[in-house]
Amino acid sequence: MSTQYNKSAIILHAVQGILILFVLATGTFVLSEMPNTIEKLSSFKIHMIVGLIILALTIVRIINILKHPKLEPLKVSSLREKLIKINHISIYIVLILVGITGILLSKGSGLNEIVFFGADMELYNSFKDYGMGIAHGMLTKILLFLIAMHIVGIISYKIKNKGNILGRMWFNIK
Ligand code: HEM
Repeated sequence: MSTQYNKSAIILHAVQGILILFVLATGTFVLSEMPNTIEKLSSFKIHMIVGLIILALTIVRIINILKHPKLEPLKVSSLREKLIKINHISIYIVLILVGITGILLSKGSGLNEIVFFGADMELYNSFKDYGMGIAHGMLTKILLFLIAMHIVGIISYKIKNKGNILGRMWFNIK
């Protein structure tokens, strides 16, 4: 059994990690703080395109996992093993839901027509008036929590065990 993920999984994990952190940070601190004026359209465009790329990469990563043999399990208690599995599966599910709610929000509010097809429509005042807008925002907070738990898990494993956990998701440079 391999102790390291395949090359595509490693690259996809690194690229997606950077994109998710970028979209989470800019979505929370820039986008949702800006008034919905015409100046916001280019920020929306970047957010929506990167968000769609993240959604597509999530599906590619799930296919990649299903196509490759499982990795050698970590030497941890069965409870911890379950928690790790729940954390990983939840991240994939929540990522897909964040992407879908984002798409439904922009379709429902006409934002996608304005941003991608230059439709001459008025930009809606607040996306928080949409159920999908509230769901999208709440799911991003859940995603943030899951990613924080993901990192806390790795740090606590590193403190307790001698195993090279980071090496499982990185290239072996010899
Ligand atoms: C899958 C990755 C995505 C992440 C991590 C993400 C993250 C975020 C975050 C953190 C916010 C701010 C939420 C808040 O105000 O509480 C936000 C808002 C928003 N997102 Fe996304 N998003 C993603 C995908 C998408 C997609 C695919 C679309 C549309 C095609 C989209 C459209 C929007 C819109 C319209 C807002 C509202 C901004 C506002 O209130 O002004 N998002 N997103």
